[in-house]
Amino acid sequence: MITIVTLDGPAGVGKTTIARQLADRLGIAYLDTGAMFRSVALYFGEGSWEKPVDQLVPELNRLDFDLEGEGRHSELLLNGYPLSPDIRSEEVGLWASHLGRIPVVRDFLRRNQQAIGRIISLVAEGRDMGSVVFPTARHKFFMDASIDVRAKRRHAQLKAMGMEEGLERIHAQIRIRDDQDRNRVVAPLKPAQDAVIIDTSALDADRVLEKIVEHIRQKGLLDD
Ligand code: DC
Repeated sequence: MITIVTLDGPAGVGKTTIARQLADRLGIAYLDTGAMFRSVALYFGEGSWEKPVDQLVPELNRLDFDLEGEGRHSELLLNGYPLSPDIRSEEVGLWASHLGRIPVVRDFLRRNQQAIGRIISLVAEGRDMGSVVFPTARHKFFMDASIDVRAKRRHAQLKAMGMEEGLERIHAQIRIRDDQDRNRVVAPLKPAQDAVIIDTSALDADRVLEKIVEHIRQKGLLDD
C-alpha cells in the first residue's frame, strides 16, 4: 500500500527540515521537489527561462530523476548522479522560481514526481503537491510563516551550510519568489482545499513535527 503525505508552503518556511524528519518517523522516503526545480535551473543556467519552449522540451527530455533510500537518507539522483550542493543558493532558488512559471517545465517535473509516487510511499514537499501533483493524497499539510521569520530561518540554514548570504538580500529574494510562486498562472502556491494549515511562525521544528504526526496518527497512516 502506497501512502503519500504532501507538505506545501512558501520559501524558507522549513519544509525540507520537517519533510526529512517526518519521513524518518514514518519510515518512508521524502521527495524534495524544490530540489528538482533547482537542479533543472542550475543545469539549464541563468536566463534559460527566456528560451523558446521548443528549445526547452528536448533539453528536458534528456533529464531523468530517481529517488533512492528512505527517511533522512532519501536521495534524489539526476541522470544517475547526486544533486549538486550549489542548488541551495538563494540565487538558484530564484532561477527555479522563474522556470517554475513555464508550463512545459511543470508538466515534465509533475510526470516525474507522479512516477516516483506510484512506486513508493512519500512525504512529498513543494508548492503544489497537495493541489496538483498528488490531489488524492491521504494527508495534506500546508506550512506558513511570516516573511520575516522565513528570511531569518533561511539565513540561519544557509549559514549552517557554509553559504552565508546577507539577511536583507535573502528577504528581498524571498519576497520576489513569494510573489512569483503565488501569482503564476499554472499551479500557483496555495493550500489544497483539504490541507491542514500550520502557522509555524511561533513554533520550533519539533513542535511542527509533533503537530503533523498527531494529525496523521488521528487519521491513520494508511487507507482503511
Ligand atoms: O522549495 P524551494 O525553495 O527549494 O523551491 C525553489 C523554487 O522552485 C520555488 O521558489 C518555486 C519552484 N518550485 C515550484 O514551482 N514547485 C514546486 N513543487 C517546488 C518548487
